[in-house]
Amino acid sequence: MTFAVIPHSSPMSPDQRAALLENPGFGRIFTDHMVTLKWTADLGWHDGKVAARAPFQLDPACAVLHYSQEIFEGMKAYRTQDGQITLFRPEENARRFAESADRMAMPRLPENLFLEAVEALVQIDRDWIPDGEGSLYLRPFMFASEAFLGVRPAAEYIFCVIACPVGAYFKGGAKPVTVWVSDSYTRAASGGTGAAKCGGNYAASLIAQAEASRHGCDQVVFLDAAEHRWIEELGGMNIFFVMDDGSLLTPPLGGTILPGITRNSIIALARQAGLTVVEQPYSFESWRADAASGRVRETFACGTAAVVAAIGEVRFEGGSFQIADAGTGPVTSRLRDELVGIQRGTVPDQAGWLHRLR
Ligand code: PLP
Ligand code: COI
Repeated sequence: MTFAVIPHSSPMSPDQRAALLENPGFGRIFTDHMVTLKWTADLGWHDGKVAARAPFQLDPACAVLHYSQEIFEGMKAYRTQDGQITLFRPEENARRFAESADRMAMPRLPENLFLEAVEALVQIDRDWIPDGEGSLYLRPFMFASEAFLGVRPAAEYIFCVIACPVGAYFKGGAKPVTVWVSDSYTRAASGGTGAAKCGGNYAASLIAQAEASRHGCDQVVFLDAAEHRWIEELGGMNIFFVMDDGSLLTPPLGGTILPGITRNSIIALARQAGLTVVEQPYSFESWRADAASGRVRETFACGTAAVVAAIGEVRFEGGSFQIADAGTGPVTSRLRDELVGIQRGTVPDQAGWLHRLR
């Protein structure tokens, strides 16, 4: 074991925990423990601990506070019907975390250490996994902790994992969402950090997300930075279109969008069901025209937090349009049910995506 376990001296009582788990929302409630691991240029990864969740003490010159050298992951632990605890494709999160680290000039965390850290936290806080529809959202992250104001990759980092019991990401639950297409802000340009899961990408997206909220929308849709024409992804999800010939279309991974693990799983499930999936650029004008003509039958967003959410209405500066009858279409429903079924152990896991905790 790489991580020394120092259990919380006064964890939350079962009654208090049960009250919080009744309506967890998303990202507001945290479990008792956290995992930490340090990296320094001389020692490498060291001082791994599972201990009571507590604030960090940071020097005001801590590099992350100035230059945002930070990356994170988002994944979920589930309790299956037979009472087992599972993670969904956590190896993919470990790999993407290492790739994000490369892009942000941070040290790679070996994938086995990433998995060990996540498992250790889920083990100790297993009573926090909600029953029923909920899950335990895990947030591994790493930041530059060196106190130094020169601009270069830091020489010290902290890796940490925290967890929160969560319900539905969107306040409307499983209802179709409304999205706002931003024509003034973009998320990532060619050569930038769009494919990395770094905090800076989200910082840059917040003004567009706030604009979306002002227009009564749940999420923002970003267009490409060069032409402001090609659909890329949402603030925190990838996007799929279901065409009238039954095929699925999704924007290609070209370095500017996040290579979503849900996106990859949906592509695999759709192909296995005999559907054609094309990864090809699709413009906002085409989406609008195809929604009007009926060529686009369904549109959905997907990601760990939201799982699969139908997009019912699209708003933009000067107008709006609906996707079909603005409900959840049959292809979206089928793919969502299948994915959720695999994650929760009610549908056979043919691809071996579930990682069971011992
Ligand atoms: N795109 C962005 C910008 C995201 O934040 C996320 C969520 O993690 C996704 C896509 C979906 O990725 P995943 O399916 O791996 O959660
Ligand atoms: C996730 O789905 O894990 C994300 O990080 C996206 C965010 C909207 C919570």
